[in-house]
Amino acid sequence: METVGVAGLGTMGAGIAEVFARAGLRVIGVEADEAALARGRGHLEGSTGRAVARGKLSPGEREAILGRVTLSADRAAFAEADLVVEAIPELMELKLPLFADLDRICKPEAILATNTSSLPVTEIALRTGRPERVVGMHFFNPAPVMRLVEVVGTARSTVTGEVADLARRIGKRPVVVGDRPGFVVNRLLLGYLNHACQLLDQKAASKEAIDTAMVVQAGLPMGPFALLDLIGLDTALEICGVLHRDGGDPRHEPAKILTELVGRGRLGRKSGGGFHDGEPEAEEGFDAMVLLRPYLVDAIDMFTSGYASQDDIDEAMKLGCGYRSGPFETIAALRMRSLDSFPELEE
Ligand code: 3HC
Repeated sequence: METVGVAGLGTMGAGIAEVFARAGLRVIGVEADEAALARGRGHLEGSTGRAVARGKLSPGEREAILGRVTLSADRAAFAEADLVVEAIPELMELKLPLFADLDRICKPEAILATNTSSLPVTEIALRTGRPERVVGMHFFNPAPVMRLVEVVGTARSTVTGEVADLARRIGKRPVVVGDRPGFVVNRLLLGYLNHACQLLDQKAASKEAIDTAMVVQAGLPMGPFALLDLIGLDTALEICGVLHRDGGDPRHEPAKILTELVGRGRLGRKSGGGFHDGEPEAEEGFDAMVLLRPYLVDAIDMFTSGYASQDDIDEAMKLGCGYRSGPFETIAALRMRSLDSFPELEE
């Protein structure tokens, strides 16, 4: 596998293109029009430029990375690709016609992958004449930093092993999972993030107090509202909607504040502000266990449902979200310190 296509060069697509180019693969990046293409080029140049400024990359290495990326506003450019990763907005009405096009344009042996966070990979695969060569390849934001890739297989796919090998080759850790909304990470993460928003709806605490507690007490790299600003509130809202329609869990029912901010165009960093406009102020007064415990019980439910092993769930949360410990490691530590007993694990 030498040439990879990336469809859509927003935050995720541009990050994915950078990851492949850094690993020495040729990348064909395609956007809908010249203006979107210019924004995609800006993401790539900005991210690699920051790496040079921080001394992580030499100017020569940056030139070589950018030189491996060819940009086009024409999907026909994917004809040479061995694999195409789709990273366009989370709307089936956009994804299905794109996959029909990719099926027509790409070589018969090419693998088609979607970076979807929660939409059914099976339905996307069935839109093509090669469902056995269609998988999910789900990266995490920021793609150049987060080490996890969820490789999502359907009942028909035969290429998850090949895609997992490719993920290793580009320095990522693959976890192969089945096609279920939210996979491992988003199912656990979005329940927790939306629950934090629901606490704001209930005026249970301030966003600053919740963010501070989750960093200081729970040791997470960012608080839930800072992370929602990074992910994009519109993306989070879409995923919560899909998860709620799938399982009906009240913690997935999109919080009013999330819907309201998206309605006002406050989408997070990409729109200049979301929950926060800049660095949040530190504030005390929230008990992190209020959010942590239901998240840990969700992880237990995921394991007992047979969807993923405890090790895979722990690895996925650590490498996908930068957590210092996975949920089962956290449960073990809490039990050891007699802070909680988790009878749910024995049921
Ligand atoms: N692109 C490239 N590199 C970046 C970057 C970006 N956008 N943002 C940060 N980095 C790099 C920095 O260059 C730095 O590298 P270095 O250590 O080699 O110098 C490193 O990441 C750490 O960055 P900073 O020192 O600036 O900042 P932090 O230490 O605060 O880390 C963070 C920033 C990596 C974003 C960290 O806060 C973190 O891990 N947060 C959690 C992110 C997370 O949970 N992501 C998953 C979201 S869910 C998702 O994406 C799924 C989707 O479907 C919704």
